[in-house]
Amino acid sequence: MSLPLEVEIKLPTGTTYKQPTGLFINNEFVYPKQKKSFEVLSPSTEEVITSVYEALEEDVETAVQAAEAAYKTNWTWGPPEARAAVLYKLAELVDKNAELLASIETFDNGKSLQNSKGDVALTAAYFRSCAGWCDKITGNLINTGNSHFNYTQRVPMVCGQIIPWNFPLLMLSWKLGPVLATGCTTVLKSAESTPLSALYVGKLLVEAGMPKGVVNIISGFGATAGAAIASHPRIDKVAFTGSTNVGKIIMKAAAESNLKKVTLELGGKSPNVVFDDADVSKTVKHLITAIFFNTGEVCCAGSRILIQSGIYDKIIKEFKKETEKIKIGNPFDPETFMGAQASDIQFKKILKYINSGIEQGATVITGGKPVEGKGYFIKPTIFADVRPDMDIVKDEIFGPVVSVIKFDTVDEAIELANDTQYGLAAGIHTNDINKIMKVSNAIKAGTIWVNTYNDFHPMVPFGGFSASGIGREMGEEVFHEYTQVRAVRIAISNTN
Ligand code: NAI
Ligand code: MG
Repeated sequence: MSLPLEVEIKLPTGTTYKQPTGLFINNEFVYPKQKKSFEVLSPSTEEVITSVYEALEEDVETAVQAAEAAYKTNWTWGPPEARAAVLYKLAELVDKNAELLASIETFDNGKSLQNSKGDVALTAAYFRSCAGWCDKITGNLINTGNSHFNYTQRVPMVCGQIIPWNFPLLMLSWKLGPVLATGCTTVLKSAESTPLSALYVGKLLVEAGMPKGVVNIISGFGATAGAAIASHPRIDKVAFTGSTNVGKIIMKAAAESNLKKVTLELGGKSPNVVFDDADVSKTVKHLITAIFFNTGEVCCAGSRILIQSGIYDKIIKEFKKETEKIKIGNPFDPETFMGAQASDIQFKKILKYINSGIEQGATVITGGKPVEGKGYFIKPTIFADVRPDMDIVKDEIFGPVVSVIKFDTVDEAIELANDTQYGLAAGIHTNDINKIMKVSNAIKAGTIWVNTYNDFHPMVPFGGFSASGIGREMGEEVFHEYTQVRAVRIAISNTN
């Protein structure tokens, strides 16, 4: 019996809901040409939740044709208020379905319900922020004297978007918000381990009044559907969030196909720097949020903590104590802060890094093992006595594992902070404005958080330096990434 296009799923909360399984193309859930499907797992229970249909190259082509047709309509070229209305309505629907969306996310991804609820709130906030931008994406009038009239326009594009599994819903919002605001159209592929919330948003897009073909959402794998997006000859722009390795593959595919515009939000190994004058208990809260929020599966996780020698012992003592209080386990328990890692692959990758840290001689301050029983749970882990050449210090682990390094001077802190191929984010903890200015100006990273961490706002742009990526999401900057500038120069005839 073939998989229906909608299945009933019973969530661990007891709620039952209708989950679409097809490809969302032209505002309908449809079968892929080959009718292949794949299983969706719950990482906290290791059970199969459902299967969903899998897009292959020919389905990407169908979805691109839908996006191209929508691009020719009044949605793209007509009044921006129409797009704002859909975005406002979408934000309202996300709020209205917050409980359900958060539960779907927790079931599929393993993250705690606390974390999922935060993601849903940020998703609604971002759509709302984008709604306000629709009629503010303008060009310039350029004065070159009275012989010419010059202006620029910001022209939307047909896009392809590939998102990861660590924040399935939130990353979808960072991708779809600017698409809907600018008049772009898109084919978005969710990550193969977390396809459910994205498909559910398909339903909400229809309810919000989005015309057909504007946003098409497909489930599928990277090497097939993802690669077909990156190398598609008629997609004008690809936006990707994921690993640095795949980012490089995408950039190459973009170059070899049609030189499509590329934005990449990639990995990190972000430093979190604590100076002697920092407030111990407030700082420790931020260190915990920086590395253990979302089970450490955060691109900008503060995974290298640098602590000045005068406060080192106090911070370590408090950090260990507070880390050991973290509630980990059943992600649906409202008290749980840390749920499961998103997949078996990720679980094994993290444990391999933990073992390499132990083998290479680092000291485990706390954690260092999985939680016994079903599900991919790993204890929050702090390593000290690390050397710069250790894998746990150099590589992105993407889990609840942090290395702590001691330093003496401000210059040493800057040097250690920048000793990485990445440049996504950094944290600085001090009340000394001179240190804040010196260190924030010297750290090579796209975001610097001072006396806070993992602290996002729709108006503040986010993205990386060097191996952490290209381009920015959110803020005003993102609208430049989703539009191309057309300059029009008109010669004025002398009519006298
Ligand atoms: P990944 O980069 O393979 O997956 C992210 C997305 O890219 C998924 O939708 C996947 O289907 C797609 N993809 C994979 N190969 C592709 C290809 N050849 N062409 C087009 N799309 C492709 O990441 P993965 O393997 O799931 O995780 C590995 C590591 O990547 C993690 O341990 C973490 O270090 C990093 N990562 C970073 C993220 C971030 O937010 N910056 C998010 C997810 C992973
Ligand atoms: Mg899953």
